[in-house]
Amino acid sequence: MTKDIKNPPIDRIDGRLKVTGGANYFADFELPNTAYCVLVGSEIAKGSITSLDTKKAQGAPGVLGVFTHQNMPPIPGLDAPVGGEADGPAPKQKTEETYRILSSPKILFDGQPIAIVVADTFERATYAASLVKATYTKQAARTDLHKHVAEGIAPKGAEGGNYLRGKADAYQSAPVTLEANYTIPIEVHNPMELHGILAHWTGPANLMIYAKTQGVNATQQAMAEAFKIDPKNIHVHTEFMGGGFGMGLRTWPQETAVVAIAKKIGRPLKLVMNRSQMFTLVGHRPTTVQTINMGADQDGKLVGLAHAATAETASYEDFTEATVNMTKFMYACPNVSTRYRIVRLDRSVPIWMRGPGEATGAFALESAMDEMAHKLNLDPIEFRLRNYTETDPEHNRPYSSKHLKEAYQRGAEAIGWSNRKNEPGSQRDGNWLVGYGMSTGVFSAFRWEASARVLLKADGSLTVQSAVTDIGPGTGTALTMVAHNVLAVPVSRIKVEYGDTSLPKAPTQGGSAIVSAVGSAVFDACTSIKQTLIELATKNGGPLTGRQADELTLTDGMLSVEKEPGKKVSVSELMKANNLTVIDKTKESKGGPELGKYSMYSFSVHFVQVRVNPLTGVVRVSKAVSVADSGRIVSPKTAASQMIGGVAGGIGMALTEEATIDHRFGRFVNNNLADYHVAVHADVPAIETIMIDKPDPIINPMGAKGMGEIALVGFAGAVANAVFNATGQRVRDLPITPDKLL
Ligand code: MOS
Repeated sequence: MTKDIKNPPIDRIDGRLKVTGGANYFADFELPNTAYCVLVGSEIAKGSITSLDTKKAQGAPGVLGVFTHQNMPPIPGLDAPVGGEADGPAPKQKTEETYRILSSPKILFDGQPIAIVVADTFERATYAASLVKATYTKQAARTDLHKHVAEGIAPKGAEGGNYLRGKADAYQSAPVTLEANYTIPIEVHNPMELHGILAHWTGPANLMIYAKTQGVNATQQAMAEAFKIDPKNIHVHTEFMGGGFGMGLRTWPQETAVVAIAKKIGRPLKLVMNRSQMFTLVGHRPTTVQTINMGADQDGKLVGLAHAATAETASYEDFTEATVNMTKFMYACPNVSTRYRIVRLDRSVPIWMRGPGEATGAFALESAMDEMAHKLNLDPIEFRLRNYTETDPEHNRPYSSKHLKEAYQRGAEAIGWSNRKNEPGSQRDGNWLVGYGMSTGVFSAFRWEASARVLLKADGSLTVQSAVTDIGPGTGTALTMVAHNVLAVPVSRIKVEYGDTSLPKAPTQGGSAIVSAVGSAVFDACTSIKQTLIELATKNGGPLTGRQADELTLTDGMLSVEKEPGKKVSVSELMKANNLTVIDKTKESKGGPELGKYSMYSFSVHFVQVRVNPLTGVVRVSKAVSVADSGRIVSPKTAASQMIGGVAGGIGMALTEEATIDHRFGRFVNNNLADYHVAVHADVPAIETIMIDKPDPIINPMGAKGMGEIALVGFAGAVANAVFNATGQRVRDLPITPDKLL
């Protein structure tokens, strides 16, 4: 079904709305009589509240209520602890500990909400919140993973346990060996848009929610379970989102609490969290320590590989991610073992963030590959090619598609890899040391169940509908292209409606899966419309009677017979002749069992050139080239933008991003955007993106694999490798701040 054509780049369909303020984010919605709430957070990381004085707050102007564990309205479905199914599809398991918002004086992490203050304006709620005073009984809090690595436990669930292929210790006896430890700090999603919710009970069991969620259906389901009402009576709207990066992949306890309080006070209720709360209450990338053991022979063939990772989680939930998975299948190596552990700390729970798991794991594996290449005196690309695999060694099955060799080659050309000197520290540009580095990235390519409705009107316009939300990558634009490619309706006549539970059900936007999932449903619905048109044209008495479907082409609103010039009928005439004002098709789509015969991944390669100032230790990424092997590129412009965004995130991960805890108090010291440094324009050079753009013949009818995550996965390793090439200094502890190079 896949046509071997390159798609034209079209502008983002929502671009104008976004840059003119026409796009409404959850907090932009105004409902009459709305009240506002502000969270008050715990000042200790572990212990319990001994006294809570809310009198002053209650008496402050405009205050409608102060809710604490003493008077919190019930949340019927939260008899199952938060972290249960009511939270949507998050990667977590319950522990023996329970965190239920405002349900007991127990404190499990710093910043845990101890009160929610409601007032008639946001400013009055903020002031009243400052009047809530608490005293505590403190217990010693364990917040530093580095002190507790030995306490790691094997989690239940998909990421738990150990993996072994061949012999676990084969690396030890290899001619060339390497052992190295890599660490990453807490990183925080920090989208520009703050998190929160606007909840409005439109009836005793009817709810309207404007949320900051990556999945409106998931939020609908979570609220249905929490409040024991029919999901059909819950309407969730999230058309626009000012960045998600993973933080919106679940419904958070404070959102549920706001819904409960809105019911109690009988008014619409809005919560917009502040920036420091964004560090604590909506997840983060967990601190992770990793060890790689690698053995190779003198020819540069891997003999053995072992990858162990330990990450933090909360006391009350086991969060896991696929940190060590890449090591199992990335390279041809007969002996591979991996081990993944988590440590429960007195911290709030992590959540998936930008290339979750793989981004952490790739930093370790791809740094180690660079270190080994150096030991072997091999070019890092050559070393990877010597261990290249055309089939998945973990599952012993083919990849659905893999064009990584071409990606290495094209990226190398674009960055000017031939200018790289194998000898570290041997290239200068004035006072700056210059180095080149590269790294591979990978992420699972998914195809989840999704549905879509497509309506073709007799005037030639097309409407595409799906509940899927767009966290920023340009989902509507990609779906426009999918529809355009099947029905040849001009892009300007296609309208995409999304981000609302009134539309056909769709999965949560995450895991780089949406073009594959929802795109397939749109493709199927459009294909069904096309079949209807063909049937109308070729039936007895139809204008193209007797022709076979494969003799017909559909272009510019015309069905024509390829071999008979002039023999054609316009789609609108055809519809009018059959008294049709609209052809309306809804399709559910999911992959068939044949997908299970393949390993499906998107691949990327990142190349960077860095300049390092030997006097100050400052690292500048001076050039970046990112190559995506993610199947057919459906929307080239938004795809390139995603890659650029990934590189910006990657520069932050590599050089600046670190949320620091003062472990004496278990609290962040840089929980704001002035002190937590995301990459800004001055940090980001012109970025070249290259799309291999070869359709995957297996995954879906568009041949498109995901691309959001691979834009980031691996990038930090490429920077670390370039810094080594520039300076001879190997930094295994992110971020690579100047102090680590002096
Ligand atoms: Mo992504 S971390 O699946 O939003």
